[in-house]
Amino acid sequence: MASNIIRRTLATSATSPLKIGLIPADGIGKEVVPAARRVLESLSNGPKFEFVELEAGFEHFQKTGTALPKETITTLKNECHGAIFGAVSSPSHKVEGYSSPIVALRKHLDLYANVRPVVSVKSPAFPNQRELDMLIIRENTECLYIKQERLETDPKTGKKLAWAERKISEEACHRIGTMAFNMALTRQKLREQKPLAERIWKHNPRVTIVHKSNVLSVTDGLFRETVRSVKEQNLEKYGGVDMEEQLVDSMVYRMFREPEAFDVVVAPNLYGDILSDGAAALVGSLGVVPSANVGDEFVMGEPVHGSAPDIAGKGIANPIAAIRSAALLLEHMGYTEQALKMYDAVDAVLVDGSILTPDLGGKSTTNDVVDAVLRHL
Ligand code: NAI
Ligand code: MG
Repeated sequence: MASNIIRRTLATSATSPLKIGLIPADGIGKEVVPAARRVLESLSNGPKFEFVELEAGFEHFQKTGTALPKETITTLKNECHGAIFGAVSSPSHKVEGYSSPIVALRKHLDLYANVRPVVSVKSPAFPNQRELDMLIIRENTECLYIKQERLETDPKTGKKLAWAERKISEEACHRIGTMAFNMALTRQKLREQKPLAERIWKHNPRVTIVHKSNVLSVTDGLFRETVRSVKEQNLEKYGGVDMEEQLVDSMVYRMFREPEAFDVVVAPNLYGDILSDGAAALVGSLGVVPSANVGDEFVMGEPVHGSAPDIAGKGIANPIAAIRSAALLLEHMGYTEQALKMYDAVDAVLVDGSILTPDLGGKSTTNDVVDAVLRHL
């Protein structure tokens, strides 16, 4: 993938600021997005930022009848270079007229990949943690998340019968596969800047394709074949990247048994969603795992976690996932140096281990952790 995905249509220069849309949305999104903003604002030598606050979410839907105002979409499309999304409180039951704004935003902005790094850091907070350095790349636009569902009555039993359609296209598989192989090469290049002893992943770059084509031979079959063809048709570029496959059920098993065996993992939407929340358990908490929604022209950072209604409003949400998501945004926009600084500052807080939020066994608040990150910057 291009490591520099600044919107081509929007001019940037050394003097004009980077305009970042902030969409905190619901629950702890309102606490962790401002935390990420504070860290971005305090970067020295970085780009100048201009932030624009935008509305979306279930609370906004309850107030106004719309979960994703048109203005949010047009501002992001026409004015912003990138964005950070917090989290949305989507109810588990159907609410007439409501549809998840994050799923819609990914579609509107054609953010076809959800990139989720899961990396271990040695910390007293998780003494038994395995070493891992994995990047889960989840297809972001299709699969069961196209939400083509319908309810019928079973003519045989007279009881309810629910159906869902699943879409897998060759085009989407090809671009997500290409991103996986490109990211494997990019990660290899970044690793080579470190001495071997300091690297967690010490092998050839590797792409693991996750599917269930032994059962779903048409849909998952197309995913598998198309991602494989990315390497097979471009051996000159990707010949040095090892390619392996794993059925999704045994993938879950292997990921918990030997998480150190994975480098880049590429999966259709639903499997990727489930795998990446699961992978968060390997590194201590959902509160530390970031993601970026990436398209060819736009990037939106987004912590993997949801709106955490159980802790919202208490000031104890872990801001690390959001801060790392902001760093991921910078990384994908080409500001690698500033991104690395942010990652290092967060890692230093984890390694120190004295200022942690309750999800990591600490007693500190969101603001305490942000202050600690700022000191390490
Ligand atoms: P969740 O991720 O909100 O919370 C799961 C557990 O992890 C909770 O115990 C929570 O307190 C904890 N947790 C999550 N983030 C944390 C943080 N930063 N610091 C400390 N602890 C943290 O998932 P859940 O409970 O399944 O969903 C709650 C709501 O979030 C639902 O309405 C769901 O639809 C929505 N959701 C939204 C997502 C998004 O906006 N992309 C993704 C996942 C869920
Ligand atoms: Mg999820």
